[in-house]
Amino acid sequence: VNHLLGIKYIKEADIQLIFETADHFKEVINRPIKKVPSLRDITIANLFFENSTRTRLSFELAEKRLSADVINFSAAQSSVKKGETLIDTVNNILSMKVDMVVMRHPNPGAGVFLSQNIQASIVNAGDGAHEHPTQALLDSYSIRERLGDVAGKNVVIVGDILHSRVALSNIFALKLQGANVKVCGPLTLIPKYIGTLGIEVEPDLRKALQWCDVANMLRVQNERMDISYFPSTREYTQQFGVDRALLDSLDKEIVIMHPGPINRGVEITSDVADSKQAIILNQVENGVAIRMAVIYLLASKIKN
Ligand code: CP
Repeated sequence: VNHLLGIKYIKEADIQLIFETADHFKEVINRPIKKVPSLRDITIANLFFENSTRTRLSFELAEKRLSADVINFSAAQSSVKKGETLIDTVNNILSMKVDMVVMRHPNPGAGVFLSQNIQASIVNAGDGAHEHPTQALLDSYSIRERLGDVAGKNVVIVGDILHSRVALSNIFALKLQGANVKVCGPLTLIPKYIGTLGIEVEPDLRKALQWCDVANMLRVQNERMDISYFPSTREYTQQFGVDRALLDSLDKEIVIMHPGPINRGVEITSDVADSKQAIILNQVENGVAIRMAVIYLLASKIKN
């Protein structure tokens, strides 16, 4: 059985195949008829045990544009609330002749655990602070689209690295493709293992921005925060928030990314988030083509 559980488990050639496949699907979804019949014989369950806007809707749209049958499960309205286990929940759904599972879960490693206990392809749509592989793929794809290539680019990931599955998956994906990566943020929000990934910490935001071609501005994840780890929101914004004046004071124009949802006025101001320098909505647009590519490639292996 084939899965996408994390960028840690794939190779650079896999990323390039996903990008080439996404190029085709991006062209398809810009046609008047945005659908292809490729997955008419595949049924996919989207299992969301944690809130989502972009990832959930983007997977559903990607599946429908591939003509798959789709069912959506939200834990909050399910028998999980009555105490049903993850494996029982998923095995009951699979018995309805489901071929593939897309899952978001608050616990790191939930996708790996499920892959060891069920018989279906699994796509990780975010597992706690572990990985968010399709987010990292769409982020690199968006850099490639804006700057022509990812290899050799300087990318800084700014903010709450400690709680961020987006950061970890981006670090793996960017390094696989030959980008130079630094992280920048309060030392209380930088994980101790970061050095073992070969990643440099730049605590000074201005220096980090002066160095980079791309700044990926992460959301401060208040919902995962132990308050004792964290500077106040005002202190965070003073030291690690990006506003127009800071960007205008640099020697060059950099690309601004954000995985969403944005805390406007905390990690970036609205005049930055809504500027031409920002590719935030391009990231969301590219998410559909990337997820079509991932699902199409995994489904091809199921069929064969
Ligand atoms: N980027 C992202 O994962 O957003 P959602 O939580 O809204 O899916």
